[in-house]
Amino acid sequence: MTAHFTHLADHPREELFALADLAAKLKASKSTERPLAGRSLAFCFMNPSLRTQVSFEVAAASLGAHPLTLNLGRDTWQMEFAEGSIMDGAPAEHLKEAVPVLARYCDALALRSFPGGKSWDEDKTEPYLSAFKKYSTVPVINLESATGHPCQALADLMTIRERMEPKGKNFLLTWAPHVKPLPMAVPNSAAEIAAVAGMNVTIARPEGFDLDPDVMARVKRSCDANGATLRVTDDAASAYDGAHVVYAKSWGALSRYGEAPSADPAFRARWIATAAKMKRTDDAIFMHCLPVRRNLVVADEVLDGPWSVVVDEAENRLHTAKAVLLKLLQGDKRR
Ligand code: CP
Repeated sequence: MTAHFTHLADHPREELFALADLAAKLKASKSTERPLAGRSLAFCFMNPSLRTQVSFEVAAASLGAHPLTLNLGRDTWQMEFAEGSIMDGAPAEHLKEAVPVLARYCDALALRSFPGGKSWDEDKTEPYLSAFKKYSTVPVINLESATGHPCQALADLMTIRERMEPKGKNFLLTWAPHVKPLPMAVPNSAAEIAAVAGMNVTIARPEGFDLDPDVMARVKRSCDANGATLRVTDDAASAYDGAHVVYAKSWGALSRYGEAPSADPAFRARWIATAAKMKRTDDAIFMHCLPVRRNLVVADEVLDGPWSVVVDEAENRLHTAKAVLLKLLQGDKRR
């Protein structure tokens, strides 16, 4: 079976920690070796990106591989995923051909495919990513899907471990205001990786903004296995008390799927990350996957203050991308 890197839950704790360790070694190394020379990698995007696209392109190139970035539907034909569909609409090509064709040219395929935002039941099946995994004969990497952003989570784990031993520390995932109903991939993966790392997880969110029950069940299982706690609260301020890591992120409400969050100023003021809230923590670091809307999600004073590690966190996307590529492709004797 082809090895993929698409969902955190497919990988045991030891493997995720080993990837973060390898990324740390690569970060410290000045090596100019090209272990992936002669390989070609296709990074397919159905949605915009800055960090994911650039970090993977640079990671691939610095390991000697040739990166190709494809904006699916713009650089390529529009793609159909549904089995048995009568293709008389916009899509001119089915993933059933496109993915195996790409796999004949490339040694790994990666995909960013956000949820459609109309039906969570449908989005949760991740039709495009599932089709990539089904039809690819080479490793597939998830560059953010409806349910997770595992590459971001690896960089988050690395960033936390650069500053503290995570086991037994307090991790706060706090919902934040936004103008759009954003995907839940990042908060899902942030909660999952914190729990895997043995942290006590607090999720602060307004009523109706609970994460998917399957994700919560996985987080709970990891917390239980590590002797850590899982707490959910709607108290936006006291949630910060004693935190060692604050991870702010907006996401859309499953209970009102596809609807933008309230723009009520008092509601926004209650949930924005501020210096006053950070001062309630145990000298916490402030994390966000980026991009972030200043003074909506988080106040300038936090991003520009001593707590913020968001740029280091983004840098670590590069080192963890290299680790993922090496893990999937080194030793692969296909070529
Ligand atoms: N954090 C992250 O995935 O950033 P991009 O959306 O810019 O890739």
